[in-house]
Amino acid sequence: MTTTVITGIGELVTNDPARAEQGGLLGLVHDAAVVVEGSRIAWVGPAAEAPAADVHVDAGGRAVIPGFVDSHSHLVFAGDRSGEFEARMTGEPYSAGGIRTTVAATRAASDEQLTSHVARLVAEMRAQGTTTVEIKSGYGLSVHDEARSLAVARQFTDETTLLGAHVVPSGTTPEDYVDLVTGPMLAAAAPHARWIDVFCEDGAFDVDQARTILAAGSDSGLRGRLHANQLTYGGGVRLACELGLVAVDHCTFLSDLDVESLSDSGTIATLLPGVEFSTRQPYPDARRLLDAGVRVALASDCNPGSCFTSSMALCIALAVREMRMSPAEALHAATATGAAALGRDDVGVLAPGKAADLVLLDAPSHVHLAYRPGVPLVAGVWQAGRPVV
Ligand code: NIG
Ligand code: FE
Repeated sequence: MTTTVITGIGELVTNDPARAEQGGLLGLVHDAAVVVEGSRIAWVGPAAEAPAADVHVDAGGRAVIPGFVDSHSHLVFAGDRSGEFEARMTGEPYSAGGIRTTVAATRAASDEQLTSHVARLVAEMRAQGTTTVEIKSGYGLSVHDEARSLAVARQFTDETTLLGAHVVPSGTTPEDYVDLVTGPMLAAAAPHARWIDVFCEDGAFDVDQARTILAAGSDSGLRGRLHANQLTYGGGVRLACELGLVAVDHCTFLSDLDVESLSDSGTIATLLPGVEFSTRQPYPDARRLLDAGVRVALASDCNPGSCFTSSMALCIALAVREMRMSPAEALHAATATGAAALGRDDVGVLAPGKAADLVLLDAPSHVHLAYRPGVPLVAGVWQAGRPVV
């Protein structure tokens, strides 16, 4: 198996808890080297002690971080909602109703069109340092269109999520639609999905419906996750905690009881600050969550309606500037905790045995991700040991 050694790393972010004493939350190593063997990390340490390898790369004093783990995206769609965004920026509020516009365009698209659209977005993400991505369905809302959306997503990632319960489509009642989701849709989609998600919100699905759908998913072997408390206060976050879900996403409107439940249950709060940016909503208070001992992940929520960015670096910059996270907390949330939000411990950390998913930054330290917002800082990406950028 070919080995590659990357030397001259001015600052290496490992996220390795074994290095926390010296290297803090990010397990930093200065003047570091990494050895990659096949698809895995074989060695991490001071450059002066690096073993020889077949291929040598000099990082020239720049920083290396784990590839971003984007644990929440909706990449399978067709069409464009820039008009809706423009209207929002001149005063219209965001509502879940716009989802139906994308559903019509997605149903009309061929499998080939959907596949090439997802391929383009995944490449866009990779070029910006994302090496693991979760992809949801949710713009099909019929048995056929949800199943094919997931089959398309599966070509790009193992982390696929059935979000048949995104909104109730036109022409059916909520009761009939929940029966469809928990019956034939789940049966058709389960072979292509690892997760099941529900948009638990006014105008979408209530707590009882979410409970029913997650239970049916669990009976079919799918693990649950939730969109909750995005637009209003409600019971979604507490439901996620009660069910012991690994993550609950959005968490914009939280009561003290919600925060307490998150901290008691260990359910990860995945914050999606690109959504608040693009819908002009108040940002969730990450500091309040972290101070209460809640684990926080950051993800893009890349979708055509509420947030059409694929940039994890933008999410980090927003989290630092607007949500009172430190640069280290934000990067950790976008890598190691993003991985935990997908139940993964093989990515998001650079240590022997872990996936060789690395990003070389054109910057001396990870702080530049927030310090230089909007600047393309990704100079190289290795995914499973292969240079892809
Ligand atoms: O995560 N909140 C629900 N779903 C997406 C938005 C979907 C859309 O507006 O198309 C979200 O924000
Ligand atoms: Fe979402």
